[in-house]
Amino acid sequence: MCGIIGYIGGKTATPFLIEGLKRMEYRGYDSAGVAVLDAGAIATRRAAGKIARLESALAAAPIAGTTGIGHTRWATHGPPTERNAHPHLSADGTVAVVHNGIIENANALRAALRDAGYEFRSDTDTEVVAHLVQELFEGSLEDTVLAALAQLEGTYGLAVVSSRDPGKIVAARKGSPLLIGIGEDEHFVASDASAILAHTRQVVYLDDGDVAVIERNGYRVLDANAAPLARHVHKIDWDLAAIERGGFAHFMLKEIFEQPQTVENAMRGRLILEDGTSKLGGLNLSHEQLMAIDHIIITACGTSWHSGLIGKLMIEELCRIPVAVEYASEFRYRNPIVSANTLCIVISQSGETADTLAAMREAKRRGARTLGFVNVVGSTIAREDDGGIYLHAGPEIGVASTKAFTSQVVALALFALKLARKRGLSVTRGMEIAQALHALPAQIKEILDRAEQIEHIAEEFKRAPNFLYLGRGVNFPVALEGALKLKEISYIHAEGYPAAEMKHGPIALIDEMMPVVFVAPHDAVFDKVVSNVQEVKARKGNIIAITSRDEAALKGLVDYEFRIPETVDLLMPVLASVPLQLLAYYIAVKRGSNVDQPRNLAKSVTVE
Ligand code: AGP
Repeated sequence: MCGIIGYIGGKTATPFLIEGLKRMEYRGYDSAGVAVLDAGAIATRRAAGKIARLESALAAAPIAGTTGIGHTRWATHGPPTERNAHPHLSADGTVAVVHNGIIENANALRAALRDAGYEFRSDTDTEVVAHLVQELFEGSLEDTVLAALAQLEGTYGLAVVSSRDPGKIVAARKGSPLLIGIGEDEHFVASDASAILAHTRQVVYLDDGDVAVIERNGYRVLDANAAPLARHVHKIDWDLAAIERGGFAHFMLKEIFEQPQTVENAMRGRLILEDGTSKLGGLNLSHEQLMAIDHIIITACGTSWHSGLIGKLMIEELCRIPVAVEYASEFRYRNPIVSANTLCIVISQSGETADTLAAMREAKRRGARTLGFVNVVGSTIAREDDGGIYLHAGPEIGVASTKAFTSQVVALALFALKLARKRGLSVTRGMEIAQALHALPAQIKEILDRAEQIEHIAEEFKRAPNFLYLGRGVNFPVALEGALKLKEISYIHAEGYPAAEMKHGPIALIDEMMPVVFVAPHDAVFDKVVSNVQEVKARKGNIIAITSRDEAALKGLVDYEFRIPETVDLLMPVLASVPLQLLAYYIAVKRGSNVDQPRNLAKSVTVE
């Protein structure tokens, strides 16, 4: 998604702006630009495409000022062109704006401004804000921005500078993340802490409705009536090194190989082996509240929705509570049945996905308690939920989610275990699951040590036009996730399907050109999966099987096999997903895809 950076201090602004934009490249973008106050006027440089092109524009025509804002744009209104790149200027060139989010009444405001004589130079909603600030300019820049915000509908993370009130950056947040970086005789504004981490670890996360006035030697946070607000200063505890690739060819590969550690981190201090349960400090749910839950809704998007499907099966199996898993984008506009005894679990790596945030807010409005299973500390979902479980997976830079997924599944298992042990699960069954969780990091490592076997399979299928992924029970969501991984980074069409359901249509797709991946560890439904394997083989399908034993029943049926260690059925997805992550990664690399920043995708979808 779009990235915002702003600098105000005693040094030339553009190096800070460019460095910050580069730190946010992983979020996905298609154009970039900067605006700097220089000798009483605003100078802008913008470019479609990668930041390198913006750097070339600045090298050709440097800007000297010490107050500036920058932006990487992921197109929502209008194509990714230089004219649509941010920052956008007001008609008289005295105001520059960068913006994340969507101004939903942009058309109405554009018409009114046109009637007032303003001419528009871009297709964006953001340009409306620049002209509106000019139109309303009176008093200070913050007074004017507050007046403009009163007319805006929709979502925004905004940063504004003006030659009419230099020496400050005014920022505003509603629905799109924004933070202030506190430096020595310099301050920053950014949409992502990684953009400024090289310069400060002291940050203030703005809340929806906040307006910040950021100056060289300080900052103020105001509410809609310009009354001052106190905001907590957070210290960021992860390092830039954690964001660097660490010697791996791509962030995605690094993050796949981090999973023994990240799965361990997800359990650190939370697994109580001797009692067969878990200790979760952030639920903010009393024993009585936990016992009163009679309905659980899990809502998320994409990969996080897949982990939610696994969470459903865990909770229903162990806790005997009905669970509905909802796409957040659907849930938010439905008329869902929610009561005071409904728990809404919200799963999000970024904690900023617009649909998931909106779904959580809708569930809260209807009286449900909300639990966020989130990776990014201090993210909007993490700050607005009633309680939660941080994934502790560290920054996930690759657009295709990998380590966050396995940590989500583990966090859901910890939650299900805790709740189940309160609701009658035996200590022996609890200890069996706890021991199995404890063994996962070493088992993942054992899989990763054989990554080259997956690379060999990838070599065989890198030119396949389609893939089918099949699984049953908890491994059906693994099939969905494996298909999504392949789709989003290799651009091969892939479909996940329940193994038995394949007979009701998709079997027509099977021929010698169709690779079929079976997620087939030895579990309670393994024998049924064997029948499905036979059906595919009878139609000359190319079969890749993820198994956990030397299965006589599969002899002569499977073309390629990758064996994973065994664990309790409910935790098999943590292990079975790893070879599928690797399969997608190696195929994508062999096809020359941009693995970490696949086309059309963004790391966090903060618009509807
Ligand atoms: C995962 O590989 C995808 N990039 C995407 O589906 C992602 O899971 C989805 O956008 C949800 O993101 P979130 O977990 O940050 O809310």
